[in-house]
Amino acid sequence: MDLQLDKRVAIVTGGGTGIGFGIAELLAEEGAKVVLAGRRGDVLKQAADKIAAKAREEPVVIPVDLSAHGGGAELAKATIAKVGRVDVIVNSAGVSQPMSTGSPDELWDAAYALRFAEVRHLIEALLPYMKERRFGRIINIGGSWEVQDIVNSASVMNAARTVYSKSLSREVGRYGITVNTVGPGVIISEQLESRFPTVADREAFVRMHVPAGHFGEPRDLAVLVALLASPLGRYINGEVIAVDGGMHRFAF
Ligand SMILES: NC(=O)c1ccc[n+]([C@@H]2O[C@H](COP(=O)([O-])OP(=O)(O)OC[C@H]3O[C@@H](n4cnc5c(N)ncnc54)[C@H](OP(=O)(O)O)[C@@H]3O)[C@@H](O)[C@H]2O)c1
Repeated sequence: MDLQLDKRVAIVTGGGTGIGFGIAELLAEEGAKVVLAGRRGDVLKQAADKIAAKAREEPVVIPVDLSAHGGGAELAKATIAKVGRVDVIVNSAGVSQPMSTGSPDELWDAAYALRFAEVRHLIEALLPYMKERRFGRIINIGGSWEVQDIVNSASVMNAARTVYSKSLSREVGRYGITVNTVGPGVIISEQLESRFPTVADREAFVRMHVPAGHFGEPRDLAVLVALLASPLGRYINGEVIAVDGGMHRFAF
């Protein structure tokens, strides 16, 4: 099946590692020009080199801190300056942040910026271009375990972004723009490796929670994102879809 992603421009935040990298790699293999964003320029450059080896379009790298005020607008501006347009935004940047009671406001503010405020600024800066071209795809990588046993700022901010995205999908649907959220279960990545450092940790978790019997690979999730990014995905809008091997612990 041709996903018709040839020459589409896709920003992937967090595109240097893990799930974001897996998504960027697949979109590039399908012909898209990918813009990789994250804080570490060297990590982004390595990722871009790997993708370039098998893609038709050279990836673009934009180092940016998306937990700092202005990061989203900066990324939008730099992408338009370098590439001229954006068809797809994949918001995959994020860190899991357990917060004990009394955690400093600075941590909450950074989580709010990274998962919500700068995502909104990025989207709102690019929506006029998408509306004009009557095509746009916005895909958030959320979570799949929102109600945890301890407060996690990532889950709280994912909830805010999901509700925003559902409403936004209704507002912009008439312009050929869709807004969806994909919830990873346990997908192998930098973050996951530090959360489950040993094979025994992983096996114990999988036995208790994952009917599929193993952790997912970034590509397991990227295939869904590629469909959502494609013109073929035009009738899937305002959804939250889990890719979790059947774990099914998500709240939305
Ligand atoms: N893997 C899972 O099983 C799982 C489960 C539930 C939810 N998720 C969510 O899926 C998303 C991707 O995570 P992952 O598992 O692929 O982990 P990952 O490999 O650690 O990726 C996170 C990415 O976000 C970027 N990032 C973090 N803070 C940033 C900032 N302030 N500004 C710009 N970029 C920033 C990181 O790059 P820099 O450090 O270079 O900035 C990194 O590339 C995250 O939102 C995560 O919470 C993952």
